[in-house]
Amino acid sequence: MRPVVCRVVSVARELKDVTTLVLEPPADEAPFTFLPGQFNMLWAPGVGESAISISGSADEPRRIVHTIRSIGPVTQALCGLNRGDELAIRGPFGTAWPVAEAEGHDVVFVAGGIGLAPLRPALLHVLARRNRYGRVALLYGARSPADLLFQKDLESWRGRFDVTVEVTVDRAEAGWHGRVGFVTNLVDLPQLSPSESVAFVCGPELMMRFSCRELARRGIPTDRIHVSLERNMKCGCGLCGHCQLGPVFVCKDGPVFPLREVASLVTVREL
Ligand SMILES: Cc1cc2nc3c(=O)[nH]c(=O)nc-3n(C[C@H](O)[C@H](O)[C@H](O)COP(=O)(O)OP(=O)(O)OC[C@H]3O[C@@H](n4cnc5c(N)ncnc54)[C@H](O)[C@@H]3O)c2cc1C
Ligand code: FES
Repeated sequence: MRPVVCRVVSVARELKDVTTLVLEPPADEAPFTFLPGQFNMLWAPGVGESAISISGSADEPRRIVHTIRSIGPVTQALCGLNRGDELAIRGPFGTAWPVAEAEGHDVVFVAGGIGLAPLRPALLHVLARRNRYGRVALLYGARSPADLLFQKDLESWRGRFDVTVEVTVDRAEAGWHGRVGFVTNLVDLPQLSPSESVAFVCGPELMMRFSCRELARRGIPTDRIHVSLERNMKCGCGLCGHCQLGPVFVCKDGPVFPLREVASLVTVREL
């Protein structure tokens, strides 16, 4: 897939190490269509390329949104971009959260840390078509109040009467009046019908493993629990084998998988 050079039209410093970039494709390019859960390869000139999930709404094809945590050379360069800069992207790649299959079901989103970013397009999709779904809940955990992503979104989703939003932090700070504890503790809270529910889970692998275990314990079938996996990637499109995890290539068979397919693999570190 050929790279497309986009313009950075806005930059939001979400957290001290997390930045959201809104990109606009060139006017002469076809609108950028993607499915919630897919990712792009973002190229930092002279540094390298990274897989970054799309964190914006799939209903807005002229705005390509990425939320990036600066952890190394490429992500540091991407987080340093400013409004008006250009950025080459390839994509979209990978599998999607099965939002259409989830219609008619209760839907629970379980997010840890920056894992809320890859889930955000699916949540926006569901909220924009709210009458097609049963009960909807977002369970979100972060390390501390200062690490909570998309705080404006959280407030606005909380203000709705048709979605349950539960937020917890591992460590409280002065002034925090919310829940303290791991996100796995929240799984018991929402009034969902487990046999009627679909779960979308994204975050650190340890958090996903324990959350999935709790969701399954509550009775959600493992083929209706979906996780998004991250592995180091090079090509992003099934050519280099860099992201291989057992029999699957995370870039093209994933990143979104039904838990049933990858339950035995999520304990495997980078190969
Ligand atoms: C499908 C997919 C979607 C992603 N979506 C996002 C996103 O929305 N936002 C975001 O901030 N990041 C996302 N990532 C992670 C992002 O690709 C890496 O953080 C980035 O490539 C790191 O590059 P770097 O040069 O900055 O750091 P590096 O120097 O390459 O890495 C820094 C450290 O992080 C580890 N690391 C790098 N990549 C990964 C990875 N994929 N999984 C686990 N550990 C890794 C390295 O081993 C090293 O210890 C995603 C990754 C994948 C595969
Ligand atoms: S990143 Fe090359 S095969 Fe997946």
